[in-house]
Amino acid sequence: MKIIGVSCSPRKGKTTRVSLDNCIRAITENFPEIQTEIIDLAGMDLKGCVACGGCAKILECRQKDDFNGIIPILEDPGVGGLIVATPVYLGTMSSQCKAFLDRTVMFRRNGFLFRDMVGGVLAVGGFRNGGQEAAVLHVQSAMLVHDMILVGDGKPGSHFGGTLWSGHPEGVENDGPGLNTARNLGQRVAQVALKIHG
Ligand SMILES: Cc1cc2nc3c(=O)[nH]c(=O)nc-3n(C[C@H](O)[C@H](O)[C@H](O)COP(=O)(O)O)c2cc1C
Repeated sequence: MKIIGVSCSPRKGKTTRVSLDNCIRAITENFPEIQTEIIDLAGMDLKGCVACGGCAKILECRQKDDFNGIIPILEDPGVGGLIVATPVYLGTMSSQCKAFLDRTVMFRRNGFLFRDMVGGVLAVGGFRNGGQEAAVLHVQSAMLVHDMILVGDGKPGSHFGGTLWSGHPEGVENDGPGLNTARNLGQRVAQVALKIHG
């Protein structure tokens, strides 16, 4: 069984990716039987969906950009969990994140291929209360439309998912409470994915 993480910042190796790495590391350290892979949208050419309908009956997109390289990773039937990590932009997800989610509509149209996949979300904001929870909820809406099974960060906090603060004076690496939500999210996705797909 495999869990995929998607980093939705346009900036390579910055706080969203660092947060997602911490989340995924909590899986690899505690669940050696689970494989993980990260898709990093930074630097990718990823256009928004243009609603051409070309993917109505086939897992292909007419737009010739980097999403075509992502399709084979996500169509693997061994994928049991999907963790989306986004920076907070104006109180919601980044445009890269929305473009990614909209393009995944092909998996819904071709047999609800994300159905029962376990979904978790983390959001990183420059302000401590800059809209992380709203951004998480907005991504979770897309996961519900895919008929995925949503989890938050589980015990002991058990809230919406990962909520991190990149404005910490010593960097997101020192946002202890935020990093805990990221790690707990990873473990929660892994636990539930193993119950369903293990
Ligand atoms: C266009 C834009 C809008 C932003 N809006 C918010 C916001 O509403 N709330 C917030 O807390 N931070 C906001 N930020 C800050 C980013 O969320 C923050 O710097 C984040 O850590 C960036 O992730 P990255 O380091 O992976 O690129 C915004 C940044 C940009 C570029």
